[in-house]
Amino acid sequence: MKRISTLFTGIILMLCAVFIPVSLNVSESVHAYSKTVYTIEDIRNLQDFLVARETPDLSDKDYDLDGNGVWNVFDLCLMKRQFLKQSSAKNDTLVAYFSCTGNTKTIASYLKTETGGDTFEIIPAVPYTADDLNYNNSSCRANKEQNDPNARPEIDRLPESIEHYDVIYIGFPIWWGEEPRIIDTFLESFDFSEKIIIPFCTSGSSGITSSIRNIRTKCPDSTVLDGRRFSSSASQSQIADFVSEKKEEIETLQKNKSLVAYFSYPLDNDVDSLASASVAIVDGKRYGSTEYVASVIAENTDSDLFQLEIEGSYGTTYSEVTTSVPEEKRNGEYPILKTHIKNLEQYDTVYIGFPTWWSSMPQAMYAFFKEYDFSGKTIYLFNTSGGSGFAGSINEVKKLEPNANVTENGLSVYWMSVDSSKQDIISWLDSLAA
Ligand SMILES: Cc1cc2nc3c(=O)[nH]c(=O)nc-3n(C[C@H](O)[C@H](O)[C@H](O)COP(=O)(O)O)c2cc1C
Repeated sequence: MKRISTLFTGIILMLCAVFIPVSLNVSESVHAYSKTVYTIEDIRNLQDFLVARETPDLSDKDYDLDGNGVWNVFDLCLMKRQFLKQSSAKNDTLVAYFSCTGNTKTIASYLKTETGGDTFEIIPAVPYTADDLNYNNSSCRANKEQNDPNARPEIDRLPESIEHYDVIYIGFPIWWGEEPRIIDTFLESFDFSEKIIIPFCTSGSSGITSSIRNIRTKCPDSTVLDGRRFSSSASQSQIADFVSEKKEEIETLQKNKSLVAYFSYPLDNDVDSLASASVAIVDGKRYGSTEYVASVIAENTDSDLFQLEIEGSYGTTYSEVTTSVPEEKRNGEYPILKTHIKNLEQYDTVYIGFPTWWSSMPQAMYAFFKEYDFSGKTIYLFNTSGGSGFAGSINEVKKLEPNANVTENGLSVYWMSVDSSKQDIISWLDSLAA
């Protein structure tokens, strides 16, 4: 029976929060980790259970991580640790930092331990001497740089790419109330759009607010979370708490994300594949018909956009395509997919679109549904066609993705109307939200 005396639980929980790394290290050496994947919700459930707060039905939960027959605070500690490990297993996290006298470097090393991420030290091409940092001298190098918003001190070497990092902690000392200009050099050296940036700093006493404002201005297409200022004597457990808090924010952000995935095959002669749908030209831009509908959905739902592309080609003219596509279908062949969705698990809602080809979905879509498991996700289908509409594709997708919530309310756009369909698409989206 899963019971625990609530006596002292609150105190133990507090101790657990403060001394997580210590207690976890002890527990870790004794017990093997569970294979179960835990979420923030599990952590909250167990926490609530331990302080006798109301919880959902937990009877099917495996929260006895240390295997002693009761759920207790040690299970909670193990669960938090496992959660942090699971979240960082993908190594999608980078801790980039600049530090002259070592304070920020110490915090960065704690962050590395807590996130399991990679680290990158921003080393100036010309190192700062003690004289350079002597802020009592108004003309010292650091002061001069901070007084010049355009100063961009050179970085000795940069990482080749930061593309595969989704989350980037950026650390620095506060200089005259702001991030040192070399941080601006770093921010301008890469494309941070779509990344999550988490600033952190050390300082004598100044806060991080102005630096966060500056970073948000410099990286308008990134999600810059509220960061934190640490004192030079901050402990590892303070950093562990910071990381847990940020992971929770990230999980919430990522959970609410939606994706628009589409396949479109516009031909050179302005015919969109076998649907015979003209390529849509809207505001002077040329789109495949399905591509245009996808772009309107993405823009109006703030979704990520994914274009499904295939290896090889069906040809570039209408007559080539009308030969190769039916042949592929007759032979029961599927194209090899060239593009792949990154981190499907972050999306709860997926809008999926395709043209109708001979009263059916293109073979590429069958390959697509074979590749991905949309269990637990909501799928909204959209389509462009020369008059056949979905032609049974909604039921087909239901069969291919039996554990997804495939809604009946799909949007089918007639090829002649694609370039003027924006309002219809928005009305459809409104009807889904209602
Ligand atoms: C040029 C310069 C300006 C500074 N300005 C501030 C400031 O405005 N506010 C503050 O609290 N600390 C300020 N400091 C102190 C540093 O932020 C603090 O010592 C920091 O922890 C150093 O980090 P590091 O060891 O990683 O270089 C300044 C230090 C220098 C060298």
